[in-house]
Amino acid sequence: MNKFPNVYVVNHPLCCHNLSIIRNKETSAEVFRNAIRRITYLLFYKATEDLELEEVNVETPLEICKAERLSSKKEIIIAPILRAGLIFSDIANEIMPFATVRHIGMYRDEDTLTPVWYYNKIPVEFEHPEDKIILILDPMLATGNSAIDAIKLFANKKVPHKNIRFVSLISAPEGLEKVQNAYPDVRIITAHIDNHLNNQGYICPGLGDAGDRIFNTVEN
Ligand code: URA
Repeated sequence: MNKFPNVYVVNHPLCCHNLSIIRNKETSAEVFRNAIRRITYLLFYKATEDLELEEVNVETPLEICKAERLSSKKEIIIAPILRAGLIFSDIANEIMPFATVRHIGMYRDEDTLTPVWYYNKIPVEFEHPEDKIILILDPMLATGNSAIDAIKLFANKKVPHKNIRFVSLISAPEGLEKVQNAYPDVRIITAHIDNHLNNQGYICPGLGDAGDRIFNTVEN
């Protein structure tokens, strides 16, 4: 149990095992990426568990039967926040090849810890926003500032808040509180809630800078 009503912690032994690999500062970029990919499947199992289904008739080699498939009315939008979110979007797109991928480019101003936008591939307005399911992807939910900005982008286009999910690997309690206060109906799926944020806005104990570790750009 955690104190945030709409935050789901995927507390699975395989998540714990792979988290122990990615937290280790000696883990190479290749092993780091592969361990995150393994966790990603488990996060998406939870993040997609209530997708709407519709009934169809299917002819097997033996007979016609009723089957269920994802509702054709709903559009699933995968929205990775660049650059670290890309590690999730490959897997998300593999398991939902029919989804639309709309990248969000944001980096964190290291002095103010506020997000700076440099790109987004979101249309000016959505037709039928009520039929969009949004999966915003960012491995580290730290201050919550970029999460709130990304959620706002879709909320301002009239996507119902309950249709928006935020998928993260590790979350800070400070960020979760901020996002839940701003958007209580947005569901957050994470593999772990860590202890706190440090003065530089890093999650502790965390894993360092996720983007640098994924893309092997850690400067010593
Ligand atoms: N972004 C990261 O990559 N790591 C943190 O700890 C916080 C934000």
